[in-house]
Amino acid sequence: MRKILFMTFRSLRESVFIFSVVFLALPIAAQSPLPEGEGKKVTERVCNQCHGPENYTRKKHSKSEWEAIVDDMVEKGAAGTDDEFDTIVRYLAKNFGKSTEKEMRASLLRH
Ligand code: HEC
Repeated sequence: MRKILFMTFRSLRESVFIFSVVFLALPIAAQSPLPEGEGKKVTERVCNQCHGPENYTRKKHSKSEWEAIVDDMVEKGAAGTDDEFDTIVRYLAKNFGKSTEKEMRASLLRH
């Protein structure tokens, strides 16, 4: 009897845990406007410390502009390794880059 009670308690605790994980994770996932891709996690971790992602998702920039912005954020105190900042610049330029269309046209003209 004691053992059964214990097991019920355990599985109840487990279901509560699973429920909380699912229900807490869903709104967080829905909140993030960041597109999936390599660099998403590190961008979220490094760039959401002082402000939300809306700061860097509402405007498109070329790769060199993103480099300048990220440098600026490093001066403001953003913490990360050089590798992480490289990944972030690549992620932002790929997903919030403005030169993509121009580059595509240029590559079409070359053919
Ligand atoms: C140490 C704090 C801090 C971190 C970390 C940080 N920022 Fe910022 N960021 C700021 C401040 C302060 C501003 C200016 C005030 C504001 O808009 O909230 C700002 C503004 C911005 C802006 C708007 C700039 C403009 O001229 O309109 C962009 C884009 C931006 N950050 C991108 C990033 C990116 C990308 C990262 C990750 C590499 C990052 N931030 C990490 C502090 C930070």
